[in-house]
Amino acid sequence: MKKTILTGLRPTGNLHLGHYFGACQNYLKMQDQYEFYLEIADVQALTDNFQHPEKVRLNVFEITKDLLAIGLDPAKVNFFIQSKIPEIAELTIFYSNLVTVSRLERNPTVKSEIGQKKELFGANGESITYGFLGYPVSQAADITVFDGELVPVGDDQLPLLEQCREIVRKFNSIYGKILKEPQQVLSSTTRVKGLDGNEKMGKSLGNAIYLVDDLDTIQKKVMNAVTDPKKIKKDDPADPSICMVFYYHQLVNSKDTVSKVCTECKKGKRGCVQCKKELIEAMYQFLQPIQQRRRYYEEHEEVVLDILEQGSKKAKKKATQQMKKIKQAMKIDY
Ligand code: TRP
Ligand code: SF4
Repeated sequence: MKKTILTGLRPTGNLHLGHYFGACQNYLKMQDQYEFYLEIADVQALTDNFQHPEKVRLNVFEITKDLLAIGLDPAKVNFFIQSKIPEIAELTIFYSNLVTVSRLERNPTVKSEIGQKKELFGANGESITYGFLGYPVSQAADITVFDGELVPVGDDQLPLLEQCREIVRKFNSIYGKILKEPQQVLSSTTRVKGLDGNEKMGKSLGNAIYLVDDLDTIQKKVMNAVTDPKKIKKDDPADPSICMVFYYHQLVNSKDTVSKVCTECKKGKRGCVQCKKELIEAMYQFLQPIQQRRRYYEEHEEVVLDILEQGSKKAKKKATQQMKKIKQAMKIDY
């Protein structure tokens, strides 16, 4: 029996290199070994985008195309849309009895997200919605309704997994040992810095390279990337460890090229403009096969719809079986 792996993505924008190196690269390795459910978490995306349903809908298809473009095989991965599996919403209600409000308020991921969304939830989080505060409960339902054992995620998701395990333990202690405690699978690169040197790459920060970026866009972004500020002239020696251009060379270039860039930079034998141009070329080469695959799906929208339809059917089947067990355990199997 293959182990079950589940992960989810909020459809709020296209995938960038942070997603790719932080999490998605891991999916590629795992698709051959496991029974893989990949959730396009539209219901979760609505918790902080409830006033923008058209944005969420558009991005369900955008993100699916991005994921197919990186080389995930729909024959091996069940792509499904969260809202097509109402069992998740049902289980969320059952789990909500097992979580205290104060525990949710203390969840570090939720806390920092509330802090970032002052416009929506108030300067001190005083306008927080029931839905957003409770999304970790819904995420626990996402994972456990598929009997998920392994969850590949970025490190920002660890508090959500911890909360999920707490719910599982509580459930099992009250209703009998039905649920498995899921384990995270972290990528070797857990977090990719932005081109500006910010710890996180993100749309709101404007420091991200997207998988769909064309050459022109990559050029503009890389040319503005942060380098060693002490390097003024072309032949000044510099410190690659504080340069974002070098950081990205390491992600997309071969070991040999990277060590050449490093040595030349330290010796003052490399100008930043040339160095950036080489990075632009390497990024472009890296993204080419991804964008080529993506073009196929852009031209065959019906294939994308069918992949989501078939994946959602398989997910529904698995969720129905698991819900039956859960309802029996909870004595609500009328
Ligand atoms: N919260 C995750 C994110 O923001 C997305 C997600 C939804 C998820 N359901 C999940 C991740 C289940 C792992 C498992 O990226
Ligand atoms: Fe960065 Fe390259 Fe300039 Fe060195 S030469 S500071 S690695 S851009």
